[in-house]
Amino acid sequence: MCYHPTGRFLSCPCKLELTGGSSPHLVDSNRQSSVVSDPTSIKAAAARVTEQLGGSGLNLLINNAAIAKVSTLAAETRENMMEVYETNVVGPMMVSQAFTPLIKKAAQESPQKGMSCSKAAIINLSSEGGSITNVLLFESGQVVNYRCSKAALNMLTKCQSLAYAEDKILCVAMHPGWVQTDMGGAMAKLKVDQSVHDILNTISKLSEKDTGTFVNWEGKPVPW
Ligand SMILES: NC(=O)c1ccc[n+]([C@@H]2O[C@H](COP(=O)([O-])OP(=O)(O)OC[C@H]3O[C@@H](n4cnc5c(N)ncnc54)[C@H](OP(=O)(O)O)[C@@H]3O)[C@@H](O)[C@H]2O)c1
Repeated sequence: MCYHPTGRFLSCPCKLELTGGSSPHLVDSNRQSSVVSDPTSIKAAAARVTEQLGGSGLNLLINNAAIAKVSTLAAETRENMMEVYETNVVGPMMVSQAFTPLIKKAAQESPQKGMSCSKAAIINLSSEGGSITNVLLFESGQVVNYRCSKAALNMLTKCQSLAYAEDKILCVAMHPGWVQTDMGGAMAKLKVDQSVHDILNTISKLSEKDTGTFVNWEGKPVPW
């Protein structure tokens, strides 16, 4: 979760240099205080961020948390489908709902024209694995639960972009690459540092023309 109250340094594992002369910072909302699909946790996280912002709006929300259950289509289960959908789709939807008042406030307070991540934005970490056109790495893992959830997250992103267009909130779905995380595994092509570096660079360049789109870590379009 990222915020930029005044350009001051707050709690910052990673500094973002965004366009518009501002310097937003990241706040990591930890697992204990933010179970993404639990309304009580979400409410508590929103209250904590509101307090930290000290009356300012929230410029940038990144919905990053997700899970995947290893499976084949033949072995897929109702439990997998429901759990993954709840975490990967319902979670980002509810978190976004809870933080929207703060993001709208940031948009209203910003002197910037148009849209940007240094003004007001929601970035949903999606996956090319959920691209209906590309179905990335299907031969390596069918993981239908995850693919379906990311396709749905992409639709959520599109809906958010339409619903928040008048509020000037930029909404983008982003594929971070195949990355060497717990989820991506050791065989993945990108190191975490490289992916994060490129994602931050791409985020800093997003503008109004990008809202409602699906892009990768380098800012290249990904087909739905
Ligand atoms: N790595 C890749 O190759 C790759 C490729 C395409 C897309 N992505 C996407 O990139 C994003 C980041 O993935 P990653 O590779 O960093 O995955 P990861 O290594 O599995 O980490 C996922 C993170 O999400 C958190 N999380 C999971 N369920 C949660 C919940 N209900 N509430 C709060 N936090 C929860 C986990 O917390 P705990 O550790 O506490 O469980 C963990 O910190 C995801 O949206 C993923 O779908 C990743």
